Amino acid sequence: MNGAVYWFNGEIMPACEARVPVLDHGLLYGDGVFEGIRFYGGHAFRLDAHLDRLHRSAAAIRLTLPRDRHALAAAVADTIAAYGRPVGYLRLVATRGPGRLGLDPASCRQPNVFIIADELALVSESVRAQGARVVIASTRRIAPDALDPRIKSLNYLNHILARIEATSAGADEAILLNAWGHVAEGTADNVFVVRGGILLTPPATDGALEGITRAAVIELAGTSGIPWAERSLGAFDLYTAEECFLTGTGAELIPVREVDGRVMGACPGPVFRDLRAAFRGLVERETAMAERQSNHR
Ligand SMILES: Cc1ncc(COP(=O)(O)O)c(C=O)c1O
Repeated sequence: MNGAVYWFNGEIMPACEARVPVLDHGLLYGDGVFEGIRFYGGHAFRLDAHLDRLHRSAAAIRLTLPRDRHALAAAVADTIAAYGRPVGYLRLVATRGPGRLGLDPASCRQPNVFIIADELALVSESVRAQGARVVIASTRRIAPDALDPRIKSLNYLNHILARIEATSAGADEAILLNAWGHVAEGTADNVFVVRGGILLTPPATDGALEGITRAAVIELAGTSGIPWAERSLGAFDLYTAEECFLTGTGAELIPVREVDGRVMGACPGPVFRDLRAAFRGLVERETAMAERQSNHR
């Protein structure tokens, strides 16, 4: 199939022909959860971790997924096969489903699960090579005691407002602080800095999604002997960092060259380069392993 494809209840169609019922509470109220998943060499990267997070997000909002893990993994594989290209991005969405108007989800009897496969380039190749210009948004991340950032929900409005701020400022991305002025995350990515040779990233309690790329980078820092810690960070820590970079499924690893006009010590810096090379190696190894496993089936 050419272009984006859509999987819904076992049926595959071009995404431009897909329809969502207007009474779906996912559309009306952002009542639902999702995962963004990359695939390389025709295999979803860290699918287990994504399905784990999807289940945790769904459990936290009391959404019963209509398909089990095995069926979701099979749907992911079918969608990738139908898309027909080895590399791309999947959006796996679970909504509360159609119901009556009004917030109460009790009338939503059948949650919807659908998957979109497409390409996703968050930034241009030149930004990837030279580094992103980032601003700290005035829009704050929703407080973790209001909506836990570990729930990957369909509510992205404050991130969208931050993203609009970035675009208005001519920047490539925005970083959101939490209500206490601590760095939470980017609009669709996690934030890392290097200070005093130590790799630092904010904890989930400061408003960061438990990113799967973040976890992979932390894992790689461990195996590469790069000291790292989860630590609360303020704007000052970003402004005076030796290095700063963003991680995410969409973003992969993007170096940051400037935060609010403050130029980073190095971009792409040595720690970033090491981790980017290690990440590429990890993707290659895990893709090759997934390929071997699928050949044995
Ligand atoms: C708000 C937010 N933070 C962080 C991330 C990065 O998480 P992951 O590496 O799991 O994609 C995302 C990715 O979608 C996100 O939407």
